Amino acid sequence: ERLPDLLKRMPKAELHMHIEGSLEPELMFALTARNGLSLPYADVAALKRAYVFGNLQAFLDVYHAGTLVLRTEQDFYDMAWAYLQRAAADRVLHTEIFFDTQTHTGHGVSADTVINGLHRACVDVQQQLGVSASLILCFLRHLSEEEASEALEQAMPHLDKLVGVGLASSELGHPPEKFTRVFAKARSLGLHLVAHAGEEGPPAYIWAALDALKVERIDHGVQAMKDPALVARLARDKVPLTVCPLSNLKLRVFPSLAQHNLGAMLQAGLVATVNSDDPAYFGGYINENFAQTFAALGLTAQNAFQLASNSFEASFIDASAKRAYQ
Ligand code: HPA
Ligand code: ZN
Repeated sequence: ERLPDLLKRMPKAELHMHIEGSLEPELMFALTARNGLSLPYADVAALKRAYVFGNLQAFLDVYHAGTLVLRTEQDFYDMAWAYLQRAAADRVLHTEIFFDTQTHTGHGVSADTVINGLHRACVDVQQQLGVSASLILCFLRHLSEEEASEALEQAMPHLDKLVGVGLASSELGHPPEKFTRVFAKARSLGLHLVAHAGEEGPPAYIWAALDALKVERIDHGVQAMKDPALVARLARDKVPLTVCPLSNLKLRVFPSLAQHNLGAMLQAGLVATVNSDDPAYFGGYINENFAQTFAALGLTAQNAFQLASNSFEASFIDASAKRAYQ
């Protein structure tokens, strides 16, 4: 079998995808009209021309503007349903979806509206397509720990709809230890813990995510390769890293995919996975990330099996379900 076909066909899990980053321009315009709003772009083509980013913050500004069209529970449902259809087409059997409530409560949309809409799509996709989908609430690290705690409070009536909490948004200047208490609280509630670290930020932020926040996975983590002691720690403890190659390319973490360190991470024995991050903004869903990265780095079928296996191993599905996927 040809490698490109294997990459498309192989069963996989996606562990790093922000649902607000899956909002395609066409749906953004449709929701704008449905909600009687307006967008500062004439049409889909003009909007897509704005999708050129110098760094993470430049992206976050555009991404935030896109979230303003999300107003009703049905909007969140429709956005998640569209992503889940795409994921199923890419042979994603299980996905752990990042979302946040702080962006939306900041525009007057309640946490209940957000969570109920997303969760209903997760239930429907399991019933209709057999894809399992769970939700991870991300705190916004550019805001205070107190605001993160409020977001966790607002999510308390929905604990059964969440598998974990994460940490996203502007990394530089917002080290993980700022959120030590709210992560401890989430842990005491039985939630799994993950955090973005080492996307643009230094290895010290990855150490802090592990040691202060006690996370079980690192999102991105590509900067770990600058610190041999950290690589040894991540390998020893089999800490998964949810790598997003097209995101790293579009946010200029690496100048080209050929210079991406995914191959080196696998070589170093790290439990890396491939994910799409914000597929509507970064030029592709998970299979596009696999296809372009494998072509650029000359990765092999053996690497493909390893990455697929890592994706299920790193997931928060229970042990018996994991064995069924392996
Ligand atoms: N990093 C941090 N926050 C984010 C990202 C990302 O890649 N995508 C959406 N929110
Ligand atoms: Zn991310």
